[in-house]
Amino acid sequence: MAQRDGDAPRWHPHLWHPTTQVATARIPERVVRGEGAELITAGGERLIDAISSWWVTLHGHGEPSIARAIAAQAACLEQVIFANFSHPAAESLASRLSARSGLERLFFSDNGSTAVEVALKMAWQWWHNRGEQRRQLIAFEGAYHGDTFGAMAVGERSLFSAPFEPLLFAVARAPWPSSHWQEPEQPGPEARERQALDTLERLLEVPTAAVILEPLVQGASGMRMVRETFVREVERRVRQAGALLIADEVLTGFGRSGRLFASHRAGIRPDLMALSKGLTGGFLPMGVTLASEAVFQGFVAADPSRTLFHGHSFTANPLGCAAALASLDLLEQAPERYEGMEARHRPHLERLALLPGVRAPRLLGGIAAFDLAVESPGYLNPAGRRLQDRVWEQGVFLRPLGQVIYLLPPLGIRDDQLERCYAAIGSSLESL
Ligand SMILES: Cc1ncc(COP(=O)(O)O)c(C=O)c1O
Repeated sequence: MAQRDGDAPRWHPHLWHPTTQVATARIPERVVRGEGAELITAGGERLIDAISSWWVTLHGHGEPSIARAIAAQAACLEQVIFANFSHPAAESLASRLSARSGLERLFFSDNGSTAVEVALKMAWQWWHNRGEQRRQLIAFEGAYHGDTFGAMAVGERSLFSAPFEPLLFAVARAPWPSSHWQEPEQPGPEARERQALDTLERLLEVPTAAVILEPLVQGASGMRMVRETFVREVERRVRQAGALLIADEVLTGFGRSGRLFASHRAGIRPDLMALSKGLTGGFLPMGVTLASEAVFQGFVAADPSRTLFHGHSFTANPLGCAAALASLDLLEQAPERYEGMEARHRPHLERLALLPGVRAPRLLGGIAAFDLAVESPGYLNPAGRRLQDRVWEQGVFLRPLGQVIYLLPPLGIRDDQLERCYAAIGSSLESL
């Protein structure tokens, strides 16, 4: 966070920011307040948070009902060890999320990466407990599942994971046939889906513990969307092979896909589901891994070696549970807020798509994205950073992924604010 001497911003001498190269990055702004879709800096600048602060802020910053729920819970029970004890907020959240997701068992952790780690460990140990040798995990090219070691291993190997390559376990990988990018020389989505499914089928000939995917959209690798039919066909093949299916809904969960869960929009029922980010409305760090009853039962035995020996200090933190319950209330009271995001984006994105330099516009629920036409696409491509600077000057915060520009604002963003985001992008594109 920037510290100011008078007006001169400088790096704080004791902070280390995430995924930030101090030698080249812009000094972070100091934010002192959040209100709805807006962030307010120490200098009084108001910025529309068009990416929900890394896809986290679900309804809006400072959402009063969530803030009140956390305060009430804090006054009552702030934390309790979840091994010997349970508490009402965790029980209520487990029942409600189970009813909503169709997965019977809920295991708490701290963030999206740990929710994925837990899903992988559950899947792996489930087979181990059954005494079956299934030694393969399958993930998709371009996947991102988090920054801890297991999550990195199943993610696409990249600049981010390169130093750790020797420490990452082997994962088989199937192509991800994102259907927005229609290069003339490339086959259409059907042909690419067929190729991807053929590869998956071949990989599944090896006894496989689990297949992990981000249903309908790979987020961090560039908002790469696939058709619902593809996700259903993946599930069909996974079932045929008897493997477990893990849906990483850390990004897509809680309405971001236009349905409460992208798995439901795609028409699949995974065995395990990882959730975080919007879980607490974006107020507190918490992850959950939902598991089917069949997976859970694989760990129930008098033999202690069949236990899932995994637990974090803050498991089922009551404040996080209270925030999650209040957030679920909001989602249940007004599902049209997330169901309607796609229609709110569409006319703006369609207008933007007419501009030269805009490639592959794509839309899923509250996630709108396009590519800037550049010669060498990739995370380090500076085109997005230039656009970020231009829109920032107009009071809009974006964080492009290389040349990929996307909007994923809080559900509570007003129409005039959404309009301002697109207007800022449009005028920036014209001046670039
Ligand atoms: C699909 C997906 N899985 C997992 C993660 C990791 O979540 P966290 O950053 O909370 O560890 C992310 C984060 O962006 C994500 O998008």
